[in-house]
Amino acid sequence: MSAKRIDGKAFAADVRAQVATHVARLKEENGLTPGLAVVLVGEDPASQVYVKNKGIQTREVGMNSFEHKLDAATSEADLLALIARLNADPTVHGILVQLPLPGHLDSDLVINAIDPAKDVDGFHISNVGLLGTGQKAMVPCTPLGCLMMLRDHLGSLSGLDAVVVGRSNIVGKPMAQLLLAESCTVTIAHSRTKNLAEVCKRADILVAAVGRPEMIPGDWVKPGATVIDVGINRIERDGKTKLVGDVDFASAVEVAGAITPVPGGVGPMTIACLLANTLTACCRAHG
Ligand code: GUN
Repeated sequence: MSAKRIDGKAFAADVRAQVATHVARLKEENGLTPGLAVVLVGEDPASQVYVKNKGIQTREVGMNSFEHKLDAATSEADLLALIARLNADPTVHGILVQLPLPGHLDSDLVINAIDPAKDVDGFHISNVGLLGTGQKAMVPCTPLGCLMMLRDHLGSLSGLDAVVVGRSNIVGKPMAQLLLAESCTVTIAHSRTKNLAEVCKRADILVAAVGRPEMIPGDWVKPGATVIDVGINRIERDGKTKLVGDVDFASAVEVAGAITPVPGGVGPMTIACLLANTLTACCRAHG
């Protein structure tokens, strides 16, 4: 039987609508407008598209969007000075520095210069530590979106076998922490994992976040498993450019119980969660 498709586009629209309702109430009752500052250094085309979409969706939910587009040759000192200004600005509740940064800039140094309370990406070392120790943290947006979809589809995740393929700081590691906090038995697999097919086949929840087009075939999926495909890979097929995930959708959809499509699965949830985090940061800043 064909798996249920988890509709991330509709889910994300729902999250944005809830955020918009809350923002409207904050304005009316407290005279507050949440503000998100996005910093883009350089002209990476994919990053420019992401930043533009973030700006559009931020304004659509009624928040202020502040975009800072800096030259690719911007010095670390100038970037740190901008972050210091944004940290001190009471109208800015969330700060996001679009990654990757040009090679001459130290991403860790830059991210850790953001006030952790405004770190809506959840990448600051304080937020990483808070998440890992089960304390109140800013949670990275993509894993947060995945968790929301998993909870919506499965209810309790307690005791389930979860396999996360990919060990990035942005997705794999925080995803594993979130699943552990839900009392899953968590395995983090990666490019050096032995018997990857066997490991994946044990998963009740399989999260693919490796960035390799269609790497996980249907026969690595346990029948009835919930498959979350974080990959967004651009490939050429039949003379056309196509977006595909890290999972081979055509074969996996015949085995899984539920699966997120690409596009229209995890992707739209990331910005929706960024807006939710910005709202949270604003509410925490104002008690
Ligand atoms: N580049 C790709 N994904 C992300 C993300 O979630 N946050 C930031 N800041 N940069 C990214």
